Amino acid sequence: MKNDFVTIPISDIYLDESIYPRENIDHKRINVFVENLRDNFKFDPIEVQAFPGQKGKYRILDGAHRWSAFKKAGQVEIKAHIMVLNQIDPLLYAAKMAIGPRQLTETETKNTARRAYKNNSRLTAVEIGKAIGRSRQTVDKYIADLRAARLLSLDLKIFHLNQLGIPQERIAKRLDIPQKTLSNHSAKMPELAFWLNGDLSKGFTVPQVAQKHGWPEPLVWSQALKGKDDLSRFSSLYWDLRPWDVWDFKADKRFGDENPEQIPAQVIAHILYFFSSQNDLVFDPMAGSGVCADTCLALNRRCWSFDMNDRPEIRPEIEPYYWDLEGGWEDMPILSAREKPELIIWEPPWFEKNAQGVPEKNISKLSKKDYLQFLETSLLFLKKQFKKNTKLAFINRDYRDYYDCPAYKEDPKKAIFFIDYCKILKQTGWNVTYTILVPLSSEPFEGERGEYMQGKGILSTTGRYVMMAV
Ligand SMILES: C[S@@+](CC[C@H](N)C(=O)[O-])C[C@H]1O[C@@H](n2cnc3c(N)ncnc32)[C@H](O)[C@@H]1O
Repeated sequence: MKNDFVTIPISDIYLDESIYPRENIDHKRINVFVENLRDNFKFDPIEVQAFPGQKGKYRILDGAHRWSAFKKAGQVEIKAHIMVLNQIDPLLYAAKMAIGPRQLTETETKNTARRAYKNNSRLTAVEIGKAIGRSRQTVDKYIADLRAARLLSLDLKIFHLNQLGIPQERIAKRLDIPQKTLSNHSAKMPELAFWLNGDLSKGFTVPQVAQKHGWPEPLVWSQALKGKDDLSRFSSLYWDLRPWDVWDFKADKRFGDENPEQIPAQVIAHILYFFSSQNDLVFDPMAGSGVCADTCLALNRRCWSFDMNDRPEIRPEIEPYYWDLEGGWEDMPILSAREKPELIIWEPPWFEKNAQGVPEKNISKLSKKDYLQFLETSLLFLKKQFKKNTKLAFINRDYRDYYDCPAYKEDPKKAIFFIDYCKILKQTGWNVTYTILVPLSSEPFEGERGEYMQGKGILSTTGRYVMMAV
């Protein structure tokens, strides 16, 4: 919609490359415009749009050459229409406007179509074609490879989320596709598994197959280990099974995103082995690196994971959910599901773990009192919401002020211990059946840091526990 024009300072207007359809600015044309300006020629107003996220700034939709000429001629203001495009793609709008005065080159037209599709895969070939002045068939050719790659990656995400047992309506919502599209794609799932199994039966290893098809490795494990019992899965993954209560494992890079503090996959695998059965539903309320869902794939458990940190492309299986610190968690998607989990695996953020750099709403930021209060209300909430026999694996650690405080000066008021967690679990109706030691690595306390601590009498802690409760 074209409004009346206004006068805008040249310095508040930008040429945003992401919506500029041409490959280059034509400097000859700018020089001609500069001459015209000196001859007092009156130019039509340019068209701009409010720059997303930058108050009082604008980006050019039409008139990049006029704006450049005004700048070059030392003008400080330019007349412009401020356009409101609503649903119209700004790159396509700019391309359409560019067609008039000087046709886009073939390369520019093709690139514009591809960029528009990459930005918004909901655009149809007809819509793109109309804007750039090309037929649907031509646009289809321009974007054929992008469309195929997108469909494959969509199929893969659907396969992934299906394997984890996420209900269809939540998959559709998460991937932002209509349920009907989801059903069409779901029909292709056996075909995907067939390809993969074909490669596996030819003797390719799981990492090779994952790399060849661009699949997440845990998803390939879920196929490679199909039909096997838990013990054979452990041995195929080269994991030993410890039937005692100290599980001091290192992280397994095949599962979860790389993160120095992630819970090792073998710890999750041990929880799953001892406290659940194949096909059970696991709930991970604060999933972080995604190691729990990945391990569930390898051990054939279904898993619903959530986190406040939303990464739809990298981790579509982790649905966004923010536990508001004030409570009111009745909107949690898992509550409206027909099914309830058999096992909750919950590792809340550590208290004041590294308060700097942690997002504002993270519960790590809370004071000790509020942190313990949050644990109490949320554990009570979980106890009330699920089945009587739903088990809880509550993963926590001791917190002490060991960074700079010698051990003999340690202030107990600042610390949170294993005993505090026991008290909260008891108060909220969870009965502890096991406490399993899953110590953190002592590596950070070696070398120079270790020497400093030795000198000062600082005693660190590697205490971390899985408290099993029902
Ligand atoms: C200790 S990490 C979980 C680590 C995970 N078990 C792993 O091994 O990768 C805690 C997670 O809780 C999330 N979190 C913190 N506060 C939250 C809140 N109020 N609501 C939802 N998620 C939150 C953080 O984003 C973080 O990913």
